[in-house]
Parts: sequence; structure tokens; C-alpha cells
Amino acid sequence: MDSRTAQILIVDDDHQLRQSFERLLAAEGYAVRTASSGEAGILAVREAVPDLVVMDVRMPGISGLEAYAAMREFEPRLPVIIMTAFGTTDIAIEATKMGAYDYILKPFDIPEILKLIEKAVAAGRSMRSRVAVGEEGEAAVAADAIIGRSQAMQDLYKAIGRAAPTDATVLIRGESGTGKELVARAVYQHSLRADKPFLVINCVAIPETLLESELFGYEKGAFTGATGRKVGKIEQANRGTVFLDEIGDMPLSIQAKILRLLQEQNVERLGGRQVIPVDVRIIAATNRDLEAAVRAGQFREDLYYRLKVVTMAMPPLRERPGDIPLLVRYFLARYSREMGQPDPGVSDEAMALLTTQPWPGNVRELGNTVKKALIFNLGAPLGPDEVQKASGEPLRGGGPAEADPGDSLARYVRRELASGRESLFEDLMDRFGLLVIREALEATGGNRSQAARLLGLSRPTLLAKIEKYGLRIESRVRQSDS
Ligand SMILES: Nc1ncnc2c1ncn2[C@@H]1O[C@H](COP(=O)(O)OP(=O)(O)OP(=O)(O)O)[C@@H](O)[C@H]1O
Ligand SMILES: [Mg+2]
Repeated sequence: MDSRTAQILIVDDDHQLRQSFERLLAAEGYAVRTASSGEAGILAVREAVPDLVVMDVRMPGISGLEAYAAMREFEPRLPVIIMTAFGTTDIAIEATKMGAYDYILKPFDIPEILKLIEKAVAAGRSMRSRVAVGEEGEAAVAADAIIGRSQAMQDLYKAIGRAAPTDATVLIRGESGTGKELVARAVYQHSLRADKPFLVINCVAIPETLLESELFGYEKGAFTGATGRKVGKIEQANRGTVFLDEIGDMPLSIQAKILRLLQEQNVERLGGRQVIPVDVRIIAATNRDLEAAVRAGQFREDLYYRLKVVTMAMPPLRERPGDIPLLVRYFLARYSREMGQPDPGVSDEAMALLTTQPWPGNVRELGNTVKKALIFNLGAPLGPDEVQKASGEPLRGGGPAEADPGDSLARYVRRELASGRESLFEDLMDRFGLLVIREALEATGGNRSQAARLLGLSRPTLLAKIEKYGLRIESRVRQSDS
């Protein structure tokens, strides 16, 4: 998804709260705007739609609820988190019923709100950042893209084109890493509901009991711990699209409720007596062998038949090796841009090596390999040794043993010295700093606190460095663009 800094709009009449939010979020690398009233918040959204709005309910002038309604009118795909104090939760719940992303209770738990903000920003972007289908070149690199010219992929594009503008339930099947989620987003974006919400529910990532309340919501007292009402995601996505990812792993009890939703277009909250009509389109995906799951009694046969009417089968990458060079060029262009470096290109040998691998992890694995190879790369076209190093295991077809990184680094520096560029020392140090940080983040799965520890830096220092190096390199690239 697009890697530009996420923009967050804080709407609250409390000056101090705005300020502390601004500081907190800026330190996390977000760009923050603020508004001191609902009216000002609406104007700010009209002026430039942010990635997320975090808004108080009770303000002088119009309430957060009214402001939310106006923002939703303008952009229904904008995630809004409502801040509420004890005593105003009813209003916040009302807002989630209307489609607000979530609400949080004051006083906040900071790690919790940061996690929620990250999720909400990602959710908004998965709705609004475009998936280019079958496009190539600059148009594809600028968006998320489904790349491939093979017959299987062309058939897929046609299937997306046919199914998208209907309200039919779509089942996307395929191995891990073949692009199921991308296709789900593409179907949504080309549908008649493209300007309405798209909510993703990952059925394996959420434990069974939580999954049920996440999807359907609950009434106060539905179970121990249900201290208030919660609106389910399906209700929240009314008029929109719900993507049930990994549906093959959905527990049987919840399968029954999804079947009912498909047949009757309504839901009931847990512990509730009210039947709530909803109008949602379901897109589902799985990498499981559903037929086997049906035979084993793990998947309802009636739901299976209901889901499979429109099926899209994602071809594994090994069945379309002709698409690999296209994908490699796409990933090179895309990740180089994200890293603020020129695209180094790829040598024929490296391309040959990449094209002949079986890629059990499919496009995801290929993309990760190209990304890592770029991290090792210091400017020359990607060679087989970098590709070899980037892939966790020895690659089929072999390659030279690991080269001494000192050698290639020295060669790189010599080449740069000959370039006669200005501020070369700083430039090289920034690049090296960024490389070290990127590796540390990679090693810790993106955990900034752990990465900071690994590097012997404090977390704020690490964040400041990321900002500094990232920005400097970005501005240099921009200068050289113009
Ligand atoms: N045809 C494609 N063109 C470009 N990128 C692709 C393509 N297919 C997949 N990708 C990229 O590969 C990664 C994995 O794709 P995605 O998450 O859609 O796979 P998935 O089938 O949902 O996998 P899983 O079953 O593991 O969830 C993503 O980064 C996606 O952008
Ligand atoms: Mg997926």
C-alpha cells in the first residue's frame, strides 16, 4: 500500500488534548492537523481528506455525531475514531452504528490508541488506495497493482470485470501469497459500492469468541464482561462490502450465522432480540481445500454452495513463470521508490535465477526477495549474489558463495567518490544509516522498540533518525527529479 506519511485530523475543543495528541502522533511519524470544533473539522475534511479523523463527541457548536454524519456524507470511506468520556458512550455507539470505525474511552491508554490508529489508517487506505488491474509501467508502480500477462491472469481480469459490478458473493481461492486480498480490493473498487466502506475481517487472526462479537456485536450483559453495547462490523459496513479473509478457518457456529446473513440479509447482536436488516456484499477468500473441509465436517456444505457460485481461482506463481520478469521489474521500481533510491535494474543472470525458482510462497515471496536484494544492493544492477543472499535458502541453480560485504561496499564508495557530487560524505552516511536501521527493523519484524534496543539507541533517537535519513534522502531524490 502507499507509503506516504499518513495524515490524521484531530478534532477536539480541548487545546491541551490537541497539543498532546499532536506531539504523540508526530513522534510516531504521522502528519497531524487539528480542528477545534466540529464545524472546523468538516471544513478540514472538505479541504483535504485525511487518512483518519479522531474526534471528540461533546464540543461547543455541533456535536461530534453531527460532524461525523457530515464527514461521512462527504467521504463514507474515511475512518473516524470517536473519543468519548464516561456518560457519552451512547453517542459514540450511535456513531459506530452509522459506520464510524471505532470509539475510545477517555482517559486513553496510549499503546492501545496507537494500535487502533494504525489499524484504522490501514483500513482506510485499503479502501482508498487504488488497485491497478493488469496495468503496467508507471500507472502500476504508483498504485497497488495486480501484475501479469499470462492467460490465467487475463482470465482473472475478465472475471473481476464481470463479477465486480454485480452484488454477487465472490469466493477467491488460491495458495498463500497469490494475491487474494488484492483481488478482493479490486472487486470492491470496481463495484457499485466502491464509494462505500470495505471492511476486512481476518477469520484466523481473531479468536473464536471475539470473532463472533467482532462480526455481529453484542448487547449489554450478553456475556460476562459485556458491560455495554457493541456494534458489529457487519452492521457497521451497511451498504458496503465485507471481506471475510481465511473463511475456510471460520468456526462452524459462525458459519451458520454467515449463511443466515447471506440468505436473509440481517444480523442479530449477541444477546439481542432485535433483527437488524443489513445490506452488505460479502467477498470471501481462503487457501484451504474447502471440499476436503466439507467432507471432514469442518465446513458447512450449504455455505460452501452458497459461496462458490462466483469463484476466482488464483494461479500459483510456478504455473505462470512468464509473469516473473514483469513482477520483478514492478517490485524493483516500486520498492526503490519507497526506499528513495533510483531503480538499479537487474542483471540477466539474476533474472534467470529468479525466473527458475518454484516460489512456494508465490508473489509475496518473490516480492520479499526483491526487496531484500535491494537492501543489499549498492547501486549496480541486481546481481545473482544479492538475489541469493536475499532468499533465505540456497536457490535452485546455485550462485556464488556470500561475497565479503566490505568488498562491494568499498567498490561502491569508490564509484561514488568519482561522481563528484556535493555533500557526498553526508549522503553516504545517510544511506548507510538508513541501511542499518532498515536491517534492524527487518530483523525485528518492524518492531521499533526492539530495533532500538538492538542498535543501542533510545526509541525516540531511532525515530528521529528514521525521520532524518528518510526525509533527507527523499528530498534529494525530489531535487534530482526536478
Ligand atoms: N499479481 C500480483 N501482482 C503484484 N503484486 C502481487 C500480486 N499478487 C500478490 N501480490 C503481492 O504479494 C503480496 C501478497 O498478496 P496477498 O496478500 O493479496 O496474498 P494472499 O493470497 O491474500 O495471501 P495469504 O493467503 O497468505 O493471505 C502482497 O504484497 C501483494 O501486493
Ligand atoms: Mg490474504
